[in-house]
Amino acid sequence: MKDVPIDEVLVLTSYADVSSVLRGVGWSNDPRLHYDAPPEAAKIPPIFLMFFDEVDHHRVREILNPTFTRSALEPIRPLISTIVDAVLDGLAEETSDIVDLVHNYSELIPLAVLSELLDVGPEAAEAIRIHTADVVKILQVGSNAADLADSIDAAFELTAVFTPLIVDRQKRPGNDLISGLLAYGGVTVDEVLAICMILLAAGYETPADTISNGVLALLRQPDQRKYLFADPARAVEELLRVAGSIRLLKRTALIDQKIGDLDIPTGTTVVVDLHRANTDPRRYADPERMDLTRQPRAHVGLGKGAHMCLGATLGRIQTGEALTRLFTRFPDIRLVDSHRPQWRTMKELQGLLALPVKLGPEFRGAPELGADR
Ligand code: HEM
Repeated sequence: MKDVPIDEVLVLTSYADVSSVLRGVGWSNDPRLHYDAPPEAAKIPPIFLMFFDEVDHHRVREILNPTFTRSALEPIRPLISTIVDAVLDGLAEETSDIVDLVHNYSELIPLAVLSELLDVGPEAAEAIRIHTADVVKILQVGSNAADLADSIDAAFELTAVFTPLIVDRQKRPGNDLISGLLAYGGVTVDEVLAICMILLAAGYETPADTISNGVLALLRQPDQRKYLFADPARAVEELLRVAGSIRLLKRTALIDQKIGDLDIPTGTTVVVDLHRANTDPRRYADPERMDLTRQPRAHVGLGKGAHMCLGATLGRIQTGEALTRLFTRFPDIRLVDSHRPQWRTMKELQGLLALPVKLGPEFRGAPELGADR
């Protein structure tokens, strides 16, 4: 086990230790308990699923799980492809020589997918785009009072947009996720609101970052693109392993814990480093190398255990469709030497702020995908 101190907190980096914490019982995800919680943390509304423990968490997951299974989501793959193609149409109309793929591509796909799933109009979609980055500040290791204030303010802004929408959906139900939740026995408007917040906080930036990270990786290793087309599902797993968007998670021990030969007393917060676990040389040969033909082996890019990503299938579908369709439509796309990709400073997330590229000429054929989709 290699422990790297971040602000003097214990950071677990081996695959075995990280999995053990994520799968273990008696670990809390509640930010109010974390070692670095400022007093303002007490004001965090207790609505975020990922911060719930045990019984409360289980109840909300039971409500949501059926909507996010593979069999429930595969039928909407064509809708996601259509969304991706519409975003590509927008890219094709760009007149400037250099295009930022983060703002003009990766972010637009999950935004449109979430807006479709929740069936919200342009006003709510714009609110999601503007405020979600602030909502997730709550997830930072070492988030300070200002971060929490930003996060709470953003949650209130989104509440103001979503509450009337949910109340209206109560009167006029449709064929969308909000209506489905309202029809579920015993779920209140406040709970539906909380679930919408969770989906926005967890389901917007993570796929956007994963798509951007994947594009960058494939621009840097163009020889790997043929493997993306041969087997997109396998390629996405390898991307989630080496270039997944969430890097660090926190957990606080609710009971005395033992990880390997290390005793962790009740009340201790640990940080688990998903990227280091995913590149643990004891588990993966040549671990930092992206090899899209690599024999798949479980990773923690989507977490593990009770809090494992609810939107794993949705994230995988979006990433696969976004990458195969982009590299089909713009086969000569390339990085601009003088414009470097810019990374976010938030160390919990591996995400790009900007990815300037030259698109090159457009190809209008269908992607040539392998059989294994
Ligand atoms: C490829 C993109 C994605 C990545 C890399 C990703 C990654 C993760 C990770 C690592 C966790 C575990 C957090 C923890 O243990 O504390 C997580 C949880 C979660 N994700 Fe994702 N995610 C992605 C896409 C999505 C999408 C599209 C949605 C929904 C629309 C979503 C919804 C959630 C939710 C609700 C949780 C909390 C689950 C719980 O606490 O039970 N994610 N995600």
